[in-house]
Amino acid sequence: MLVTSKEMILKAQAGHYAVGAFNIENMEMAMAAVKAAEDLNAPIILQTTPGTVDYATLELYFANVKAIADKAKVPVAIHLDHGSSFELAMQALHAGYTSIMIDGSHLPFDENVSVSRRVVEACHPNDIPVEAELGKVGGKEDKLDGGSNNPYTEPDEAKAFVAQTDVDFLAIAVGTIHGIYKGEPKIDMVRLSEIRQVVDIPLVLHGTSGVPDDQVREAIKRGICKVNYATDLRIAYTKGARANLADEQVIDPKKYGEAGMKEVYALVADKIKVVGSDHKA
Ligand code: 13P
Ligand code: ZN
Ligand code: NA
Repeated sequence: MLVTSKEMILKAQAGHYAVGAFNIENMEMAMAAVKAAEDLNAPIILQTTPGTVDYATLELYFANVKAIADKAKVPVAIHLDHGSSFELAMQALHAGYTSIMIDGSHLPFDENVSVSRRVVEACHPNDIPVEAELGKVGGKEDKLDGGSNNPYTEPDEAKAFVAQTDVDFLAIAVGTIHGIYKGEPKIDMVRLSEIRQVVDIPLVLHGTSGVPDDQVREAIKRGICKVNYATDLRIAYTKGARANLADEQVIDPKKYGEAGMKEVYALVADKIKVVGSDHKA
């Protein structure tokens, strides 16, 4: 069933696990991810970035996920990831998205507060939860290039930000970056715990592709309740498809789509177990 992300994430917070949030690019990735969630009896969040919705519209992704979710035996939420403006957040709300991120992390503190607050004021009357970001997760996320100057989240600012915006979930910068890492990533666990001590809403980890699973588990112990994976799914889908495309006899998109889905299914099933959401639906 299609649900909002609110209840599943609060349940995860109470149960000391996290919900996996998986970026999808097409119908196949959505089907494969939900199949993995069903087989593991896990709640799941499917999410799309502004770059992805530019490719095929919010309405088309929503229609795909809604059709899949309506038949699913587990709760499925559809989330706007890194919403880049108030207007896009409102478009997602009207399209039927059940969870919305407004990413004002590139803005000065006060402006980030003000845009996040406006989105909360529009979404909460519709019972749609809002994620915002403070500090800046670096790396390249579609067209969103974090650049190199990416401040970590300051605990005191996080506390003030949550109080002033009333957001439901907070994405924090503690050492992860979007995309692939050059060296070994290292999450600042002390900072994460310091943030947790002063912020009681669920915290969100971005840039998780490439983060060793043991660090993800430790971060969840310290207060992360939603874990985002994007690049790993792209790699998995393309790997499966490519292996088939090498054969020039293959001309049916269903053939390489199936191969891509198999890889995405395996990856999502693995990450569901890492975040501990299996058997929690
Ligand atoms: P990765 O591409 O590093 O998994 O980041 C995912 C993410 O944060 C989506 O918002
Ligand atoms: Zn992200
Ligand atoms: Na990453």
